[in-house]
Amino acid sequence: MEDVLILGIESSCDETAAAVVKNGKEVLSNVISSQVALHAEFGGVVPEIASRNHLEKIDEVIRLAMDEAGKSFSELTAVAVTYGPGLVGSLLVGVSEAKALAYAIQKPLIPVHHIEGHIAANYLAHQDCVPPYVCLVASGGHSHLLYVEDYGKIKIYGRTRDDAAGEAFDKIARAVGLGYPGGPKLEQSAKEGDPFAYHFPKAKLDTPYDFSFSGVKSAVLNELNHKKMLGEEIRVADLCASFQEGVCEDLAEKCLQLALDLGVSKMAVAGGVSANGCLRRKMEEKAKAHGLSFYCPSPVLCTDNAAMIAAAAYYDYQAGKRGEASLNAYPSLAL
Ligand code: KG4
Ligand code: ZN
Repeated sequence: MEDVLILGIESSCDETAAAVVKNGKEVLSNVISSQVALHAEFGGVVPEIASRNHLEKIDEVIRLAMDEAGKSFSELTAVAVTYGPGLVGSLLVGVSEAKALAYAIQKPLIPVHHIEGHIAANYLAHQDCVPPYVCLVASGGHSHLLYVEDYGKIKIYGRTRDDAAGEAFDKIARAVGLGYPGGPKLEQSAKEGDPFAYHFPKAKLDTPYDFSFSGVKSAVLNELNHKKMLGEEIRVADLCASFQEGVCEDLAEKCLQLALDLGVSKMAVAGGVSANGCLRRKMEEKAKAHGLSFYCPSPVLCTDNAAMIAAAAYYDYQAGKRGEASLNAYPSLAL
């Protein structure tokens, strides 16, 4: 059978990325141009700056990805692109580029949902990660508990009622002065802290698999303000470690519960927050204790990248999914 060679393009937030993936499994190149330094002084992603920078970088990033893969455009099977959800200006850069390229080289265009991309990151890392399984997707924009019944067949069992997990990490990191991007910095600080120094409240919800992080976020901020008002020392590392412990325990526990309730033998995690060591450890331990297999992507494939988009597109391509020349960007695209 002929190899399926897909060029993936991702520009939904603040990473301009392109990658070439063979047969949905083998990463031939994975180029990521991060805008972190550009947004750092603003403490978060500035949409206007993000889209302008995507525009400046995207041609070069694609050229690099093709060069590193050692392939020419004529050798590609298809061009895949994230078409939502995300920042509209950012998405439009990738979508316009992919449409123009696919038309110019006369190859099929495959639109990919960003979350399906995150899920597919595990297919790149683990040959035995095949549906059905339960997957937690936790990123800066999403926290979803999903049942992946088959490729492209996903059922949502739980979601966040307010902040996404990554968003909560980012907000706490900013509040304690760790700066942007918050998730990795908070994790670093937590390494020096006591995870049981504080017991922040866990949201009590009337649905078993949903999340809510606004309560714990407020509790941390209240503690911070209280200490400031009294002029007491703030042990940032303890705050970070206790916050991380509570959020990761909640994420991991609910994922395990869904796997047990559905009777599946595998659970996986994906999205930017899955780079967090505490979360990965907790999920692995819980899976092991119940005889389940556990999968997580390599850290570089946890946060936004285009290899995951090309991997997801492989299954869409096999299923006959194609994008039209009229393809648009959808900032709130549903799963
Ligand atoms: O998947 P991603 O790159 O972009 C979105 O689709 O949102 O996820 C970015 C999010 C950010 O909120 C970032 O702080 C968080 O993932 N993140 C982490 C870690 N690395 C990235 N959160 C906790 N611990 C980490 N090590
Ligand atoms: Zn993402």
